[in-house]
Order: sequence, then structure tokens, then C-alpha cells
Amino acid sequence: MKSSSEKRTIKKRTILRVSKYLFRYRTLFGLTLGFAILMTLLEISVPLAIQRIFDQMEISGSFESFESLWVGILIIGLLYLGSEVCNCLRIRVNNQLEQKVLLDMRSDLHTKLLKLSVTFYDQRKSGELASRVVEDVANVERALLDGTEQGMSSILKIAGISIALFYMQPTLAFCVFLPVPILLVVGIFYAKRSRTVWKKVRESASELNSLIIEDIQANRLIQSFGLQDKEKARFASMAEDLKDKNLRAMYRWAFYSPATTLVTKLGFLSIIGIGGFMVFNGDQTLSIGTLIAFFLLANMLYQPIAQLHGLNHLLAAGRASGERVFEILDTPIDVAEAKEAKDIKRRDLSIRFENVSFQYPERAAVISNFNLLIEKNKVTALVGHTGAGKTTIANLAMRTYDASTGQITFADEKIQNISLKSLHNHIGFVAQDPFLFDGTIRENLILGKVTASESEINAALDKASALEFVNGLPQGLDTRIGEKGIRLSQGEKQRITIARVLLKNPPFVVLDEATASVDTITEKKIQKALENLASERTVLIIAHRLSTVKKADYIAVLDKGVIIESGTHKKLLNEGGTYAKLWQIQSDRIPETIEHS
Ligand SMILES: Nc1ncnc2c1ncn2[C@@H]1O[C@H](COP(=O)(O)OP(=O)(O)O)[C@@H](O)[C@H]1O
Ligand SMILES: [Mg+2]
Repeated sequence: MKSSSEKRTIKKRTILRVSKYLFRYRTLFGLTLGFAILMTLLEISVPLAIQRIFDQMEISGSFESFESLWVGILIIGLLYLGSEVCNCLRIRVNNQLEQKVLLDMRSDLHTKLLKLSVTFYDQRKSGELASRVVEDVANVERALLDGTEQGMSSILKIAGISIALFYMQPTLAFCVFLPVPILLVVGIFYAKRSRTVWKKVRESASELNSLIIEDIQANRLIQSFGLQDKEKARFASMAEDLKDKNLRAMYRWAFYSPATTLVTKLGFLSIIGIGGFMVFNGDQTLSIGTLIAFFLLANMLYQPIAQLHGLNHLLAAGRASGERVFEILDTPIDVAEAKEAKDIKRRDLSIRFENVSFQYPERAAVISNFNLLIEKNKVTALVGHTGAGKTTIANLAMRTYDASTGQITFADEKIQNISLKSLHNHIGFVAQDPFLFDGTIRENLILGKVTASESEINAALDKASALEFVNGLPQGLDTRIGEKGIRLSQGEKQRITIARVLLKNPPFVVLDEATASVDTITEKKIQKALENLASERTVLIIAHRLSTVKKADYIAVLDKGVIIESGTHKKLLNEGGTYAKLWQIQSDRIPETIEHS
């Protein structure tokens, strides 16, 4: 639990940090405020003009005074017109400012999301994060702009009207202000309580968001397992929860809002009572005109007070969202770039693990005191049971995670000292579950090399054994492949990702179970592609199927994060250990006849 003083500083910081976004656009902000002030002045002038008209008519009491009535009406009309013109300009400038701040905050968040390491995403849900970027940012922005703008204009109105009221008739003005302290106390109390409630609403809303995204992504699974009813129930319970939390937050408002209005009406009652009494007694300081102006002004006074109270509601929701936005912006990046990170430019490179230990957060160690040399321009293979730690080792070699202890050397540099950009430029990765963007095949390929020519693309596809199937598609390279490449088969996706790496042409390539989930014929094709990929590069190949690693220069057999055997295929077979046993079992399963087809 956070202490209350800690909470207070977080709260202050949130407000301060949010304001910084606004102050980037001082001119626009100044303009909106300017128009708001002008609008307020014009609005306050209306009751004063009305007072003059009636007072003049009362004093002269003659027929010519009608002339002053017409003039008065004309002036009031112009005041109304002027104030609405200001309002129109204010709204326009305000919209501009609003969209700019929104864009800034969103892109800051997006940039941060791109920088955050895999560990961060391991522990979050996409829908929940998306709802922070889209909805929470909008909430913050609304609170920020409407907050400052309406807040300022309300305060200005209250100040202007107060001056006018006390100037006209101090006793009556005092009555008007009687309810104000009560309103203040109630308002502060409400703000305190409702922020926590709104934060719960936001959390619940993003949970629901995650569920919807998950259901959309898993729609095939849901259909094949007939999970519709289960998902409906899950949705219903979360939606119900959101509804309850929303209602709880609004429930407070349902009391707060009418209660404050009622208190303000007490002010009106006192004006009618005391004002009426004074006029009845023929008090010289109170003309009919003044009394009318008083009513109008008092009405105008309570409106900004009510508006300030409304803002309370908005600010509470906004601050809750702000904390969620800044929580992401403040997340430390655990795979961060060193201050004096170096750029490297190497074709021949080796990667060395020395006494490396690693564990995932809140898990037991996956590897400890691990040593391995991935030699330059050689193919090094890691084999072993699932869960042995193969992918983890590949991730460490690519610095997806940082090792807890020990040292990883990449191209003769400590891996932490290499700039992330240059490190990533040197690495090509083909994952077991290939990721493709929703776009055409060409768009996905040129991610590897933006400037790739048509012939380069075709050559890469050819080497990846993918040219034939791509040419067979109705629109060839320009065929759209759907989200995550859903309109391609697993083996096709795999070969596209291999072609993508070939285009990128990095000196170090990691292949993580690239042939694990395809049939033997496709495996043959992918293997051919992999051989092409492996030439003149440093390669780390991870495989469950030993046929894939047979030709590797060095094979390490991993068991529970420890290398139990190593050497060439031949040597390991001769030793007759785990590898030899695995090979025996697997060659029984994959008859040579199919392998040669
Ligand atoms: N992101 C993660 N967070 C926590 N534990 C993980 C994560 N990824 C893998 N593990 C655990 O680490 C161990 C090794 O996993 P992994 O390296 O993927 O094995 P392999 O690739 O050999 O099948 C497994 O026990 C797995 O449960
Ligand atoms: Mg794995």
C-alpha cells in the first residue's frame, strides 16, 4: 500500500505533468483563455445594461424613455452577438489545442510502448494497454482542457459577478454568497471519494476491452471448441462488473449534483426574501432595476459554481486515467540502451555465453552458469525437450532479455554496450510462430529491406523456396495475407519470414523451431531455404526435430538449462547418449522414403 503522502505527491505530479503537455502550446492556450475572458465580460455586461434601462425608465417615467429601451435592446443584442462570436472562436481554437495535446500524449505513449521490453508485455494484456492509449488518454485530455478552460472561465465569471454584486448592493450580495462555503466543502469531499471509484471503473473497462480483443483473436478456437456460451458468460460477468462500478461512481454524482443545486437555490430564496423586504420598505439603495439585475447575476453566479462542481466529476475521472497513462510512461525499460552504447558493423561475428544465469520474473532459474560459444560463420544447434530453455537462450543472444549474472559477448563486445539499433540490424530471427503484418506479401517482405528491388525480392523468395507458391497466388506479391498472415498456411508463413530475413541479410540468424509444425515435404522445402540462409552467416538453430540439425557444425543437447552432450551429429551418434536415443526414435517416425520425396 502507498502511504497517503506518497499518494499526494503522485496526485500533484499527475496534474503537473499533464499541464506540461498543455504548455507546449502557450499561444493557443492563451487564445482560448482570452476568448473565454472576453466572452465572460460581455455576458456580465448584459444584466448591467438591463439594470440601466429599467432604472432610466423608472427615473424619467415618461414616454421618451422608450427610445432608451430600443437603444438598450440593441446594445444587449450586440453584447449577446459578441459573446457568441467569442464562443465560436474559442471552440475552434480549443479543438485545435485539444487534438494537438491528444496526439502528443498518444504518441509519447506509443513510443514508450515500442521501447518497452518483452518482460513488460509478458505481464500485460493487449486490450488493457490499448484502452490506456485510446480511452485513458482521451479522458486525461478532456479533464485537462475542459478543466483548465471551463475552470478558468468559471472562476473569472465568479470573480466578475461578485464584484458587480457587492458594488450594487452589499447586503444582498452577502446573501447570495451564503451557500458558497457549503458548496466548497461538499465539493472537496466528493473529489476525494470519487477518484478511487473512477479508477476502478477504468480498470474494469480495460478488462472488458481485453476480453473482447481476446475473443476476436481466438474466434477460430472458440468456434471449434464450441466455447460461445462460456465466453458469453465471461463477457456477461465482466460487463456486469463494469456496469456496477459505473453505477457506483454515478450514484455519488446522483446525490452530489442535486444537493449542490438545492443549496444554491437557498441563495435565491434569500434574495427574494430580503430583496423583496428591502423594496417593500422603500430602501433607497435598491431600485427595481437593481433587483432584476441581481436576479440575473445571481443566476449567472450559480451556473459557474455548478460548472466547477461538474468539473470535479471530470477531473476525478481524468486523474484516475492520468495515473494509468503515467504508470506506463514511468515503467523503467529493463532492456535499456547503455549511455555510451556503441554502434557495431561486422559481417563475421560470434556470440559467447560465459557463466550466464537467467530467470523469468517470479520463476525459478531457467539456466545457471551456462557457457556456450556460437562460432562465427558456423551453424550451432540447440536441441532438447520443450521447456529445456532453448528459446530463452536464443532470446538472451538477441538481448530480448538481459541475463541476471554472467556475460554475453556479441561480436567481441559486451552485448549491453552495443546500441540496440545496431544490435538488431545484425540479427535475423525466424520464430516458430511467424509474425506477419496485415498487408501484402511485398509489404511484409520489404520490412527486411525497404529499398529492395523486384529482382532482389524474387531472389529472396526463390532461396526461401517460396517463389513458386507466391507466383501461384492470384495477385502474386500483392496478395493481401490478412491479420498475422491468417490467409497463408503455417509452412507458407514460415517461408515468407525466411525470405524476409534473407532480404535483410544480417550476419547473425536465429531459427527457433522453424520447421516444428509443418509436414515433412514442407519441412524439406524449409530446410532447403534454411541451408541457403545459413551460408556465410553465424547461425543459431533450435530444433526439436533432429533432421533439421543433422548438418550443423556443432550440436549442443540441452536438458533443464544444462548442456549434457555436445559435438557433431556423427560424434553424438557414436557416443550413444541422449542424442543418439532421440535420433533413433525420430528416424523411426520419419521414414526415409518420405524424406526423399
Ligand atoms: N515469458 C516467460 N515468463 C516466465 N517463464 C517463462 C517464459 N518463457 C518461458 N518460460 C519458462 O522457462 C522455461 C524454458 O522455456 P523455453 O526457453 O521457452 O523452453 P524451450 O524453448 O526449450 O521449449 C520453461 O519452463 C517455461 O515455462
Ligand atoms: Mg522454444
